[in-house]
Amino acid sequence: MPTTMRYGQTMHYLEQGQGLPVVLLHGFPLDSRVWEPLLLRLKGNHRFIAPDLRGFGQSTGGGAFTMESAADEVHGLLEQLGALPCVLGGLSMGGYIALEFAQRCPKDLKGLMFIDTKAQADTADARQARDEMIDLVRREGAKAVADRMLPKMLGDDTIRRRPQVLRDLQAIMESCPAETIAHALAGMRDREDHTANLASIPVPALVMVGESDALIPIATAEAMRREIPHATLAVIESAGHMAPMEQPDQVASVIESFLRSIP
Ligand code: MLT
Repeated sequence: MPTTMRYGQTMHYLEQGQGLPVVLLHGFPLDSRVWEPLLLRLKGNHRFIAPDLRGFGQSTGGGAFTMESAADEVHGLLEQLGALPCVLGGLSMGGYIALEFAQRCPKDLKGLMFIDTKAQADTADARQARDEMIDLVRREGAKAVADRMLPKMLGDDTIRRRPQVLRDLQAIMESCPAETIAHALAGMRDREDHTANLASIPVPALVMVGESDALIPIATAEAMRREIPHATLAVIESAGHMAPMEQPDQVASVIESFLRSIP
């Protein structure tokens, strides 16, 4: 798989196909492997690019990062790859970064896909929970964080009928470096609220949510769809917070139909 160097940092990414670039940003504490089941199913004339964000997966680079700096790094990578303008999709934390990207470089976008994510910033309680999780990962490492998060990541149906998805997800989460987890938690804790910016999103958007996502209620996704001028909502059946891993066939078909609608 390709990698590229920028500012001394190696950025790894998956790439497949040719055509309009479609970029997929993973969630937390994950990496580009979450897109593999989906990429196997996506056909069509598009160039799919799924980077490992700073410090995640096979990308190097330590140090603090923010949703803003992550958006800038993704933009830099896409410039380097000649992959702008693009359709940008983000899963959960990847969606927070996509929202930043949309604010900073709207002209480089042809469309947006928000997957199991939201525009709101953390509440005071959520910020406190981030700090507790930072302490936890510093004390006990990535496995402790994975154990804490896993029960909320997948729908019941997935856990019962597709246990391999749970095993794959657990392996990805446990392999995430503890330092990266701590930096990402701080970055998410301090992120901007983008609710008021949704109305000025200039491109078509797809809002997608697993029907039993324990972290993003359908009502939150529906409110996001309502606020964005040109948006559609897709609720993915038998899926939780990891809809693209849990139901890759459904998600691929929703994405393909959205991409066909992009002028
Ligand atoms: C994610 O899946 O990226 C995280 O659950 C996002 C978050 O913790 O806010």
